Amino acid sequence: MANGTFYVTTPIYYVNDKPHIGHAYTTILADVLARYHRLFGEETFFLTGVDEHGQKVEEAARKRGVTPQQHCDELSEKFRALWPTLDVTNDDFIRTTEPRHERVVAQALQRLWDAGEIYRGEYEGFYSPRVEKFFSEEELVDGKCPETGGEVFKLKEANYFFRMGKYRERLVEHLRANPGFIVPESRRNEVLGFLGRPLQDLCISRPKSRLAWGIPLPFDADYVTYVWFDALINYVSAIGLHADEARFGRLWPHCNHLIGKDILTTHCVYWTTMLMALGIPLPRRIVAHGWWLVDQTKMSKSLGNVIDPLALRDKYGVDSLRYFLMREMVVGLDADFSEEAFLRRHNYDLANDVGNLANRVVKFVQRSLGGKVPAPGVADAARDAEVRAQAEALPGRVRELVGGIRIEAAIEQTMALVRRVNRYVAETEPFKRVKDDPANAAASCYNALEALRFALHLLWPVMPSKCEQILAGIGAGAPVSTLADLRWGALVPGTPLTLDAPPFPRHEVPALGGPSPAGPTHSPGAAGGGGNAAGRGTAGEGPSPSGAARIPYDAFAKIDLRVATVLTAESVPGAKKLVKLSVDAGESAPRRLVAGIAEAYKPEDLVGRQLIVVANLEPRKVFGIESNGMILAAHDDAGLAIVAPIRSVQPGGKVS
Ligand code: ME8
Ligand code: MG
Repeated sequence: MANGTFYVTTPIYYVNDKPHIGHAYTTILADVLARYHRLFGEETFFLTGVDEHGQKVEEAARKRGVTPQQHCDELSEKFRALWPTLDVTNDDFIRTTEPRHERVVAQALQRLWDAGEIYRGEYEGFYSPRVEKFFSEEELVDGKCPETGGEVFKLKEANYFFRMGKYRERLVEHLRANPGFIVPESRRNEVLGFLGRPLQDLCISRPKSRLAWGIPLPFDADYVTYVWFDALINYVSAIGLHADEARFGRLWPHCNHLIGKDILTTHCVYWTTMLMALGIPLPRRIVAHGWWLVDQTKMSKSLGNVIDPLALRDKYGVDSLRYFLMREMVVGLDADFSEEAFLRRHNYDLANDVGNLANRVVKFVQRSLGGKVPAPGVADAARDAEVRAQAEALPGRVRELVGGIRIEAAIEQTMALVRRVNRYVAETEPFKRVKDDPANAAASCYNALEALRFALHLLWPVMPSKCEQILAGIGAGAPVSTLADLRWGALVPGTPLTLDAPPFPRHEVPALGGPSPAGPTHSPGAAGGGGNAAGRGTAGEGPSPSGAARIPYDAFAKIDLRVATVLTAESVPGAKKLVKLSVDAGESAPRRLVAGIAEAYKPEDLVGRQLIVVANLEPRKVFGIESNGMILAAHDDAGLAIVAPIRSVQPGGKVS
């Protein structure tokens, strides 16, 4: 595998509050990416930190009756100390009050001032303290802040402005020439939409009389720097801009900014144009993820629905927390947080699949095969080869998915191997065969442990502690340091198996009290019985809005719709429209389908995706291939689009 360089950043968080699950999510995502890239053998640098200046922090300090500096010292320490307890391995932690940062901000300001990129002007407008932004009268919504709905204040004052507006076209060009610069595409389109309108210059100063807590402008001591102009520069000050140019030059071109979609404009417009004015190339990529929601609404202190990552860690362990956050959210989409969903993931994926496999095989070997890594050999030539091939293909596949920030899909591929190995053990039956053919049982266990070792390496970035513990317990020792060293057959026969308890004990899932608050999903149980359910909410018995004849509810309830994850996809030679799929629909074996979606999707783009399958359709032959069920797709003038759940769902999940 070719080596490379990977630099990843998180937003620097405001020290006005204690960290919640949203902060933990972005930072764990950065950590998982950093750990994967280290495993790929790349030079990796991972930066996080805190944003200490500005009105919010000054206010938070005032409320607590301490100086801003004291407040920052205490709160920064909370953030810094939190990360190691979530197994986060950041290489640096930057505070914007550090001299190494303040110096670079002052240099940047001076350079832009000297070059005429910053000018002094009169500002008149409405100021929203919550977001520290100015708005024109037209931008206000009902006289309130368009972003928060909060109070705004009319202000007229002299300030300094960065000539941001003149970079609009250059930025649009960059976005057009580099489609992968902003991920996902929906956010890129949002930024392009924003840039379709004239772009204002950016007010980058605050008079000291109004706000003292900031970096002084080097060319006017009566002003401090606008907090965003200051904060964004952390990404370059931390890696040695103007201080260690060699290091800066090595890392910067490979920079990936991870952000939440709440700070899209500041990163994609303010920051990029600041870099253009400074003559610094743009970073490699900006990845904007969605929000963690609770009951479909964003977490907020005022709603009292903020999830504390530490409580979850203490209750269920850091690895289950990291696994849930990474597996449940598709980067770019919102995801709903609930303890129930958390526990289901823990029980299904970790306790049942990973934990059970490790525990079962180790227990059996301890009881019946001497308690040491057994000798390799042939258990079932075809199945042995199949499992080995799936294991050996996994690192490359995961690397590709991680490169596209498809973490949930990388995990899903790995879990597909774990499930395959569970089936392999069931199929080769070492428990039965050990009496007559102990060598065969030994070979089966060796292959299962070896394939599990592969899977654990690819889950290691997500669940570092547990994977290390299980790897040691199955006689594999410490993880290899790069995937180039992960080779089939390296597990040494005779090594003692020491795993002595199920690594992921199951947790009770609390019973659901009443219907879910998520919306009016009507349960088949409640609506069943009467034939009139289908007419609910509409007057009369006529045809549906589309003109199709109405059917009784029971007719619909007979259709078994299930969520499935695509495991493999290939084109069908001679049939332009067809794709041959194997999908995991939560059953004991993958299901084979043939679908007419090849004109809309390339096979390689389907792997890891979720679909809705009509699971109880009679099998039929399509182009000579047996297809077990069909998949749902929507159709319009643009063609066809696969129908999928808006968050990833346990394979086999019922659709109703
Ligand atoms: O904006 N779901 O800091 P901040 C997912 N200091 N992620 C969430 C989230 C949620 N509900 N809530 C917060 C700032 N986040 C500035 C950044 S960078 C130069 C300056 C995460 O403390 C997400 O990453 O408000 C979001 O972008 C970030 O926390 C905002 O953190
Ligand atoms: Mg915020």
